[in-house]
Amino acid sequence: MDFRGAHILSVQQFEREDVETVFRVADSMVPFAHRKQMTKVLDGAILGNMFFEPSTRTRVSFGCAFNLLGGDVRETTDVKTSSISKGESLYDTARVISGYSDVIVMRHPQVGAVAEFAKASRVPVINGGDGPNEHPSQALLDLYTIKKELASKGVQIDGMHIAMVGDLKHGRTVHSLSQLLILFDKIRFTLISPKELCMPEEIVSNLRAAGHEVVETEDMEEGLHGNDTVYLTRIQEERFNTKLEADVYRGRFRLNQAIYTRNCQPNTVIMHPLPRDSREDANELDNDLNQHPNLAIFRQTDNGVLVRMALFALILDVADRIGDTARPVHWYTEGRFDD
Ligand code: NCD
Repeated sequence: MDFRGAHILSVQQFEREDVETVFRVADSMVPFAHRKQMTKVLDGAILGNMFFEPSTRTRVSFGCAFNLLGGDVRETTDVKTSSISKGESLYDTARVISGYSDVIVMRHPQVGAVAEFAKASRVPVINGGDGPNEHPSQALLDLYTIKKELASKGVQIDGMHIAMVGDLKHGRTVHSLSQLLILFDKIRFTLISPKELCMPEEIVSNLRAAGHEVVETEDMEEGLHGNDTVYLTRIQEERFNTKLEADVYRGRFRLNQAIYTRNCQPNTVIMHPLPRDSREDANELDNDLNQHPNLAIFRQTDNGVLVRMALFALILDVADRIGDTARPVHWYTEGRFDD
């Protein structure tokens, strides 16, 4: 695809070579994200960061990524303080904000709302999550992380075994990640969830039609066997009618040190899009794994900045110009990143 000026709404718009392009540009962002150098390549550009659903890392990491390229960020962080609460349509908001910004990131609780917004926008729009549907930048950063983690263990994405655990019905991160993995070869997916929260039928049949193996199970310990990566998710409480309905499933599938050691191969990478639900009745990913070398969750969040920088650089067509304005960083940064 041609990234210049493109909206990023769904992983389904990517070919495998597009994913590789994003990863290559993401790699080139390391000196800037790791504060070895700074660039002003987006000096004067403005990101409209429009979040109409709770978010910490996605919003802040898109904002940091834009700042690290030298651009400025303007944002709204909830519906109550935005004009949407006065009845403004997505069309009007899009026309207005796209006059203020050079690129927009939007998160919205309704499926398809970001695509509708993009139709009226005069600038490129990135989907930062539309309800339970998709979260394409998260899928890219997850796959970028998987690639790096597995490479250090001599394993490739093609042919890998991945288990996805938890609320696979409402989890937009697993919807996007699995559909992105369709582009690769012969992957085994073990989908571990309560029956009522299983992966949408359409995604499962798309995976199978593309030649991947899909195993669906409610038996977590059994399902954990033989995987290169285990990707855990939280019960998406906000997608249920009541908290009580979500409580039925909360805490049913948990990974901790003992369960990991008993069932996972010693190399298995542990991932989670975060936030993990650390309340006692949930705790899908226990703190007792915090020091485990295969716990990749904070490498995921660090990688998210690289991948989002790459998306901005490609969409605004500056990927080849980053070095033009590069300067060394002078403030103290030792020991923050392992490079
Ligand atoms: C996820 C999301 O918002 O879909 N978080 C994120 O963006 N990293 C996952 C979640 O909220 O459970």
